[in-house]
Amino acid sequence: MEIVILPDPGAVARFGAAVLADLVRREPGAVLGLATGSSPLGIYAELAGLVSAGELDCTRATGFALDEYVGIPEDHPQSYASVIRAEVVEPLRMDPARVHVPDGRAADIPAACAAYEAAIRNAGGVAVQILGIGANGHIGFNEPTSSFASRTRIKTLAPRTRADNARFFDDPEDVPTHCLTQGLGTIMDARRLLLVAQGGGKAEAIAATVEGPVTAMAPGSILQHHPAVTVVVDEAAASKLRLADYYRHVFENKPEWQRIAVPPAS
Ligand code: F6R
Repeated sequence: MEIVILPDPGAVARFGAAVLADLVRREPGAVLGLATGSSPLGIYAELAGLVSAGELDCTRATGFALDEYVGIPEDHPQSYASVIRAEVVEPLRMDPARVHVPDGRAADIPAACAAYEAAIRNAGGVAVQILGIGANGHIGFNEPTSSFASRTRIKTLAPRTRADNARFFDDPEDVPTHCLTQGLGTIMDARRLLLVAQGGGKAEAIAATVEGPVTAMAPGSILQHHPAVTVVVDEAAASKLRLADYYRHVFENKPEWQRIAVPPAS
């Protein structure tokens, strides 16, 4: 794992945006794995700035969201379809037809999940997957004890996740109880993973992900088995990392050729 500790959320956003912009410039038709929630918003804003300045063209890129709520209409402002449209598709001027979100309203949920997996595969797989992390260690909505082999499926949100996400809804009771999420196995198929976290509320989850045992109790810890992971955190989110000074030393002294790049598509 490459651990990058930066002074503040702005620096985290610029770093993440640089990784994605570099990919899209080299592979204009790249497949981007999109997270929702607050963690990646700075990255999207940075990318939008590059697009408006005419320095980046995302019109040929494809996107796949990690997850979607079940039980709220697609046009609800907090559906992930709405959030992805407002925070990613429109500001990055992506082609809406190329940006996909799991269908949380499908009559046949297992079929919708299988179709989502097939769509990712048919697009050639995700080149870079952006990830946030829940305070309980979830990635996507793979809550603690999710199978490491899981694929896109319906999950019940953990009480802590519903409480954390209540800030996006008028009433905590309005937070959906279920979601569709890419599985841990789906996420692990991406060529490169970019996990971003800001703030002290994520410090424990980041420490468990990076330095803890690999365990389904901390779903993010499966990333230790991926060959191309970059964890980008601000000082507050890094505050529980035991080897933080080592990671800083490694990053500051890393020759350019040793930096993780997006591995070529196979
Ligand atoms: C969202 C997602 C979740 C969030 C996580 C952190 O698509 O997959 O894993 O990344 O819940 O949420 P924020 O960024 O709001 O703290």
